[in-house]
Amino acid sequence: MAVETIKWINGAARIIDQTKLPRQFKYLYCRDVKTMWQAIKRLQVRGAPAIGVAAAFGVLLGIQKFKGSDKRKFLQLFHETCDYLSTSRPTAVNLFNMLNEMRAVVTHNPQADVATLKKALFLQAMTIFEADREVCRQMGEHGAKLIKNGMRCLTVCNAGALATVDYGTALGVFYSAKGRGKKFSVYSCETRPLLQGARLTCWELLQQKIDTTLICDNMAATLMAQGKVDIIFTGADRIASNGDAANKIGTYMLAVLARHHGIPFYVVAPSTTFDLKIKSGRQIPIEERHSDEVTHFAGVPTAPKGVKVYNPAFDVTPAKLIAGIVTEHGIIRAPFVKNIKRLLLN
Ligand code: MRU
Repeated sequence: MAVETIKWINGAARIIDQTKLPRQFKYLYCRDVKTMWQAIKRLQVRGAPAIGVAAAFGVLLGIQKFKGSDKRKFLQLFHETCDYLSTSRPTAVNLFNMLNEMRAVVTHNPQADVATLKKALFLQAMTIFEADREVCRQMGEHGAKLIKNGMRCLTVCNAGALATVDYGTALGVFYSAKGRGKKFSVYSCETRPLLQGARLTCWELLQQKIDTTLICDNMAATLMAQGKVDIIFTGADRIASNGDAANKIGTYMLAVLARHHGIPFYVVAPSTTFDLKIKSGRQIPIEERHSDEVTHFAGVPTAPKGVKVYNPAFDVTPAKLIAGIVTEHGIIRAPFVKNIKRLLLN
């Protein structure tokens, strides 16, 4: 894929600034951990898997200026950096899982000196980066089998190359299906309030020459009632042990509609998006974002000053509405508790 969402280049994390798309294609170079923290918070880099890689690179940024060989001081800086990055966004579990993978490097090498640890942490971050590229392609291959010629697919938010290192989860399924020569089309929900569907998914899919139609979020029910949607693919930010899946606000609404209209609803997510410590979606922390995102568009007010706003960034789709979860290991179907364990813990 031509899209390189995040890359480590000469001591800096280069990200595509997604707040500027599609008007402008601009890279942002994060050279210190604070810039990376802000980039995650402001959604300059976004999407659960990309946030996970950004967190790993953020750790490298935090420790790279450490001079000397005092291990106690180094470990203090390392843990402070991990703790700091973990406050950037609460819902996508990839962020916490990747920070834990970085922490594991330190716990598994108790005798290592500072220079050795720095090297090992660098290698771990690169492993996380490469693994994302590979698992996205594996999910794409599994998911592509679900797409038949002539199908009209629907997706929400952006679970594409821009939400991962360079390929995507839900959109990766479309890229793999296209690679296999399948003919299909995609409806992209615009995804209020920040329009990741309109701005990012449409931008990506058009670049890949996929037949794409943009709809406002409130058109989905009509489209389904008209028999124009055959299958739905979404990403996820955190999946509980029972298969309940948090994703961009509006996803749950699509799953309810899909059930009513008899349309299969699939979630596409890597094993790094599972949180097996929690039993159900009720335990998933849901980020609430600033009211300006709802009351303004591109800096212009779209609501009267002083109105109260509720702005949860994610919702939870109960497992019972999900036909299957496409992972790098294959497609998980109900009963989810048993099958998630079987596929991910073996
Ligand atoms: O707030 P965002 O843009 O980070 O939300 C992203 C989503 O909800 C994606 O669908 C999810 O992270 C899956 S990305 C492969």
